[in-house]
Amino acid sequence: MSQKTYNILKDAKSRALIDDETYQKWYKQSIKDPEKFWGKHGKRIDWFKPYTKVKNTSFTGKVAIKWFEDGLTNVSYNCIDRHLDKRGDQVAIIWEGDNPYDDKKITYRELYDQVCRLANVMKSNGVKKGDRVTIYMPMIPEAAYAMLACTRIGAIHSIVFGGFSPDALAGRIVDCESTFVITADEGLRGGKKVPLKHNTDLAIEIAQRNDVTVKNVLVVQRTAGKVEWFADRDIWYHEAVAAAKPDCKPAKMKAEDPLFILYTSGSTGKPKGVLHTTGGYLVYASMTHEYVFDYHEGDIYWCTADVGWVTGHSYIVYGPLANGATTLMFEGVPNYPSPSRFWDVVDKHQVNIFYTAPTAIRALMGAGDDHVTKTSRKSLRTLGSVGEPINPEAWEWYYNVVGGKKCPIVDTWWQTETGGILITPLPGATKLKPGSATRPFFGVQPQLVDNDGDVLAGTTEGNLCITDSWPGQMRTVYGDHERFIQTYFSTYKGKYFTGDGCRRDEDGYYWITGRVDDVINVSGHRMGTAEVESALVSHDAVSEAAVVGYPHDVKGQGIYCYITLMEGQEGDDTLRKALVAHVRHEIGPIASPDKIQFSPGLPKTRSGKIMRRILRKIAEDEFSALGDTSTLADPGVVDDLIANRQNKK
Ligand code: WTA
Repeated sequence: MSQKTYNILKDAKSRALIDDETYQKWYKQSIKDPEKFWGKHGKRIDWFKPYTKVKNTSFTGKVAIKWFEDGLTNVSYNCIDRHLDKRGDQVAIIWEGDNPYDDKKITYRELYDQVCRLANVMKSNGVKKGDRVTIYMPMIPEAAYAMLACTRIGAIHSIVFGGFSPDALAGRIVDCESTFVITADEGLRGGKKVPLKHNTDLAIEIAQRNDVTVKNVLVVQRTAGKVEWFADRDIWYHEAVAAAKPDCKPAKMKAEDPLFILYTSGSTGKPKGVLHTTGGYLVYASMTHEYVFDYHEGDIYWCTADVGWVTGHSYIVYGPLANGATTLMFEGVPNYPSPSRFWDVVDKHQVNIFYTAPTAIRALMGAGDDHVTKTSRKSLRTLGSVGEPINPEAWEWYYNVVGGKKCPIVDTWWQTETGGILITPLPGATKLKPGSATRPFFGVQPQLVDNDGDVLAGTTEGNLCITDSWPGQMRTVYGDHERFIQTYFSTYKGKYFTGDGCRRDEDGYYWITGRVDDVINVSGHRMGTAEVESALVSHDAVSEAAVVGYPHDVKGQGIYCYITLMEGQEGDDTLRKALVAHVRHEIGPIASPDKIQFSPGLPKTRSGKIMRRILRKIAEDEFSALGDTSTLADPGVVDDLIANRQNKK
């Protein structure tokens, strides 16, 4: 564990919106009087009708979370219209294509035009306030237009990451009964094509079998690749938008009207539709974007995430555009055409703030320093990390080699559920320790508890809870409020339980240690082991499956599958390959198993519960520390599991 502390405050290029004293003062105020604190900061967005009530939240009983509830506003108005007078000609979105020769700049005025036209197209095809619109798109500006057009008319978007399979897409369409889909003919990543329209066609068939009929598919022409066309259902985006009116009045939305659904994995069951609402979410996304990244007017800001994940929602689109920033959207991957790509793009567009994931940093670190040092990167001022714990070695490389010891790193901890960043350094205010997300943002009250729920004080390690609400918090699981209460507020009564383990050091800094539930984090993609298991057992050869994570040098965690086969099946490499292909087909490439171990049995208690603790240890190749195995129904299976382990170091 690195004990180093970096006092970046003196020599950083940070222009420090906030110093440590101000952080301390504001933090205290935000906890002592949240009404007053958020009452003031809620005004950072424009309201058609100002709120008089600020906070009305309860983590007990039915759990009800409302912020700014009597205010009226509109997200697209805040992200576009209100900037037009001052910065109509400023670039809102820089788009960098997969191919380095492909790029485009969109001003705020052009953004207004595009979003209004698309909103009109949706309206004229019958999309109304409260309807769910599924967006399954590559990283092209039209993805942002689609999001903003939904918010303009009060439709609720549900973005499905382009790497998900037709099955996964169908599940999400069915769950929120979405009848309008926006997609592209094909996506393009690292020179490879992704058949988005074809996948959508397949997903719609599956949805139809589950009684949900998609009425329209709006298709962006990205590659002009060949697609099947269903004339009564499919609409070419470019044709419809060209014919639409260029103005569309923003709908007056209540602060608590739904803004978007985003499906995410938990420890059990199918993915949950995390629901975020309008006012509080935007206030929180824009405020964290400004202070966490030390964003100043005129900065070029780049978050490398995909809009299919929450990071793309809050920190490519909503936070930056609400702040009138120039946000860069990147279609490609870090190592195409070469491992210099990120830094080439930084130089090309003179990026000041750069936000990425540890898995990308580790992969690029492995490709060697030359790919970095041959670029200038002089424009960089703030670096950010998100999605998984960053190991101190990767942190040091990011700091020293990429940032040239001049750029503070903000290691931002948060979740799909939290809407925005909760624990993070602030450039200029927080001394940095490699591997620590450091301190809570304003209004955020972390608490560590033991497994019995007893509160742990001082220097300690435990389960991370948050004791009171913040404006960006999710409001419910779409269509299943009971599941919301059960998942987040029942483990430790009256507290939001994050699912993460965490350590607090002598300076009160927080160190996230990873998930304590059955969620794994593969290359920053969150996955429920139960989902991968259910994909595996749907294969004819598989009788039973148990999936755990294990430490992986680049991905953070890899996917390790233990499989018991049906009578008469042979566990060999051919079957391994078939199972990998099957999981990719069921969920998508991001869920590809890394290791598959066939075993005649799984370690179970006498009541039939699989002892995952043992499976995790064997997957980590730490089988000397298996702990108590005496409660196993058949302790003999453990010897076989150890003998045939697939991850021998
Ligand atoms: C993990 C991504 C350590 C954590 C924004 C959390 C992190 C899960 C960090 C949420 C970080 C995210 N340090 N772990 N800086 N950021 N995590 O919903 O386990 O895709 O619970 O949201 O990622 O993943 P999600």
